[in-house]
Amino acid sequence: MKVLGVSGSPIKNSNTDRALKVVLDATGCETEFVKLFDYTVEPCRACLGCVKSNKCVIKDDGIELAEKAKAADALVIAGFTPYSSLDARTKAFIERLYPLRHVHGFMAGKPGGAVITCAVPKDHATMPPAGQMGINAVQFYMMEEGMNFIGAVTIQGNVPCVKCTYGDECKMSGIPMLHGPDATVDSVGIKAFETQPIAVEAARELGCKIAEALESK
Ligand SMILES: Cc1cc2nc3c(=O)[nH]c(=O)nc-3n(C[C@H](O)[C@H](O)[C@H](O)COP(=O)(O)O)c2cc1C
Repeated sequence: MKVLGVSGSPIKNSNTDRALKVVLDATGCETEFVKLFDYTVEPCRACLGCVKSNKCVIKDDGIELAEKAKAADALVIAGFTPYSSLDARTKAFIERLYPLRHVHGFMAGKPGGAVITCAVPKDHATMPPAGQMGINAVQFYMMEEGMNFIGAVTIQGNVPCVKCTYGDECKMSGIPMLHGPDATVDSVGIKAFETQPIAVEAARELGCKIAEALESK
């Protein structure tokens, strides 16, 4: 059994990447980790050129990635949430799995999961529910392809303003927007996946549940 993990986070060894690797390790299966930043993947052109062949007409890495997804027994999709929706790389990857749908439903029945990193804390009073928006994008793809969506892991990530060096002086800083008028770069700090026990446990649990789903297939 092989589990494919695909991360749309462009940041090297990001929270998203590390959380995804914990999910993959916890499956105990053969796994492959794919970093979309290393590939070129255009979004779907909606040309329907894939209907008869189950292969995309766009000659980029999307074809190879769709083949990897087709060959895998389970798929975990990881991304982050710029402007409160799933990041464009991850979304483009999902759209390029459309060729696997027609007639055969190559992804149907496979267990799947989501890993989403977002800067907006859960249940924020005024900001959009970024984490949930990211999960929805992955979950609804899996649902529409007849996959067995097992669950999601949400990680508290970093608003870029804590690293950009203007976080305490920029009038557009996301720090007060997310953490209140008195918050500063120092008081907010840098968030790491490993210091979030609920997320670490959820990642392990997701991996174990994917393994269980594979065993019972
Ligand atoms: C252009 C941009 C816009 C962002 N907008 C949001 C947002 O609206 N909501 C949110 O929760 N996070 C937002 N973020 C923060 C990312 O979700 C955050 O950087 C994430 O923690 C990165 O995850 P990573 O460290 O795994 O790559 C934004 C980041 C970027 C680069």
